Amino acid sequence: MKVLVVGNGGREHALAWKLLESKQIEHVVCVPGNGGTARMERCQNLHLGVDDFEGISRFALENGISLVIVGPEVPLARGITDYLEEKGLMVFGPKKAGAQIEASKAWAKALMQEAKIPTARAAVFTEASAAKSYVRGTGAPIVVKADGLAAGKGVTVAETVEQAEKAIAAIFQGQFGSAGEFVVIEEFLIGQEVSVLALTDGLTIRPLLPAQDHKRIGEGDIGENTGGMGAYAPAPIATPELMSRIQTEVLERAIATLRAKGIDYRGVLYAGLMIAPNGDLKVLEFNCRFGDPETQVILPLLATPLEELILACVQQRLGELPPIAWKQGAAATVVAASGGYPGEYQKGKVITGIEDAETAGVTVFHAGTKLNQQQQVVTDGGRVLNVTGVGENFEQAIAQAYAGIKTIHFEGIYYRRDIGYRVLSGKQGEQTP
Ligand code: AMP
Ligand code: GLY
Repeated sequence: MKVLVVGNGGREHALAWKLLESKQIEHVVCVPGNGGTARMERCQNLHLGVDDFEGISRFALENGISLVIVGPEVPLARGITDYLEEKGLMVFGPKKAGAQIEASKAWAKALMQEAKIPTARAAVFTEASAAKSYVRGTGAPIVVKADGLAAGKGVTVAETVEQAEKAIAAIFQGQFGSAGEFVVIEEFLIGQEVSVLALTDGLTIRPLLPAQDHKRIGEGDIGENTGGMGAYAPAPIATPELMSRIQTEVLERAIATLRAKGIDYRGVLYAGLMIAPNGDLKVLEFNCRFGDPETQVILPLLATPLEELILACVQQRLGELPPIAWKQGAAATVVAASGGYPGEYQKGKVITGIEDAETAGVTVFHAGTKLNQQQQVVTDGGRVLNVTGVGENFEQAIAQAYAGIKTIHFEGIYYRRDIGYRVLSGKQGEQTP
């Protein structure tokens, strides 16, 4: 089989890497890929944009691609699956109608209310003055969300009413373009977050191992939000009892309600959940794709061949497969970022030491990297590498990831030294600051 993976992050490198573990996979093409996918054997990059549906479809049809896997949300929300399926290609990822579950927070909230999925109380506004007067009524802390896709930057957890009003004003002034035509204002929840990614063929739902990521830039989970500075799996907070509640109260209700709306949702349904200190669970958001960096810790533990699961989703026969098999142990990934991220940072810094880290046993998934003209790996984004360790337990996995990242150098490298602190120090009940 030849597979085409759309995207250029650490998630897509991990998908390509996992696929290539299987003898069934002859070749993977990443569009556009990164410095890591460029250097893998049986893998190539194709320099097209993720929204160049026509270019992707032409290449896939001319080169015998049997399956397209879509990584990021933006092409899904724009209908890449609808487009490529019409051309006769097999695509993993929901169609445009299903991708609304991530692309519109107001739509997702209405779906959750209809499906009776536990979630934060919320109100939706189409203009600033009503939204502001609402937050003056509720008081702070309160959460302000731009409706549409905003690359993870559309959510403000406001500690004061003034902050909330500023966030509302920014959204309606067009900070996020058309993503800001609606605003969702939501009750502030406390607890610990967990990501549950499930595979579904529109009928059957099979959750993957639960994961937790560290979203903040600073150690101790403080400072600005980022795309994720590290992650680990399986998250111990998601006990088997909690996972079975997530299956029945969240995932099954979501898929049944989508089906009732005529939406045949096939792909990943990712539930971002808040677990309160008393064990209550609430959905913060749904995503229509694999998480990044969660995928980089989930896939190294997967024992069932990934393409078998993905094909079963696309062909709607997931229910015929045996349960998903997992390796024992734990995985952790630490993100090496460019100095200054998530603010301004420089690109083009030469990266050294990746081979040494790999020899020492870690897997390095590239994110913002590319090859320069001399074929050196250079930085090309804010989050640069995901250094991933796997071990019998979290102590080993985390120690391995840090031993690996210490051998890697580039000017301005920044990484958090405390990834996984909750699972190391037994602080699992602790709240997110
Ligand atoms: P979202 O994109 O909706 O998941 O929001 C991004 C991040 O904002 C989440 O991962 C949480 O850290 C935080 N967040 C979102 N909604 C809430 C909420 N209702 N209460 C507390 N934190 C929230
Ligand atoms: N790790 C958060 C996300 O993928 O949305």
